[in-house]
Amino acid sequence: MANEEDQQVKNREEMAGRLMVALDVPDVAQARLLIEKLKGIPCYMKVGMQLFYAAGPDFIRELKARGYSVFLDVKMHDIPNTVRGGAESLTLLGVDMFNVHAAGGKTMMAAALEGATKAVSQQPSLQLPLIIAVTQLTSTSQETMNAEIGIDGTVTDTVVRYAKLAAEAGLHGVVASPQESAVIAAACGPKFRTVTPGIRPAGASMDDQSRVMTPGQAIRQGSHFLVVGRPITAAADPRQAALTIIEEMSQA
Ligand code: C5P
Repeated sequence: MANEEDQQVKNREEMAGRLMVALDVPDVAQARLLIEKLKGIPCYMKVGMQLFYAAGPDFIRELKARGYSVFLDVKMHDIPNTVRGGAESLTLLGVDMFNVHAAGGKTMMAAALEGATKAVSQQPSLQLPLIIAVTQLTSTSQETMNAEIGIDGTVTDTVVRYAKLAAEAGLHGVVASPQESAVIAAACGPKFRTVTPGIRPAGASMDDQSRVMTPGQAIRQGSHFLVVGRPITAAADPRQAALTIIEEMSQA
């Protein structure tokens, strides 16, 4: 019985480490309020453009000092030389994961890996961060991709093509919809990470996401990390919302 309980606690902790809370707030004060509410939950913290552009590197150092793993979601997309330099700076900051757009091409993605590798060689105490490629935003429907972005075929075709390109460039995984996790694992192998936003507990508002799944479904599809923003940050009780999601992940 005790063993079973230990196993459940371990499982919940492992699942908490696979939950990435999107700190999509405008400033450090609001981010700290949220962190306070989630205190003790060993989740990953995802810092996106809104907070990073407002709070800067100091806040990343603060999260690291508080013991969190940090995913810096700044989706770099530029010429290889610029991305190489950006990746070097982010790695020196100590982030555990950052991302680039696969649409920047293989040379650009490889440049991100080179920049990160250079930073680690300068400071051997650092670990190489997981470098993840964005395939198609989870807010993008097939209609938008075909008619506006100008890419033919299904979203899944593009996601798989980009995932293979990212793997060839040496990157560690992709951001994609949880609906695509299984097909990505089939194309790139089970170790190639899938980081999946577009998570909505049953009955939650879709907001601006279109390709969504529940936390349990995402885990069953093989997603390595689940990115959750508004279902936690906009909840009346963010702590309870996070714990409920972790429980659902553990049950899956
Ligand atoms: O609030 P919500 O759960 O929709 O937040 C999803 C988070 O994941 C946001 O921070 C968004 O920027 C990010 N994201 C996404 N789709 C991607 C990549 C990142 O929704 N393809």
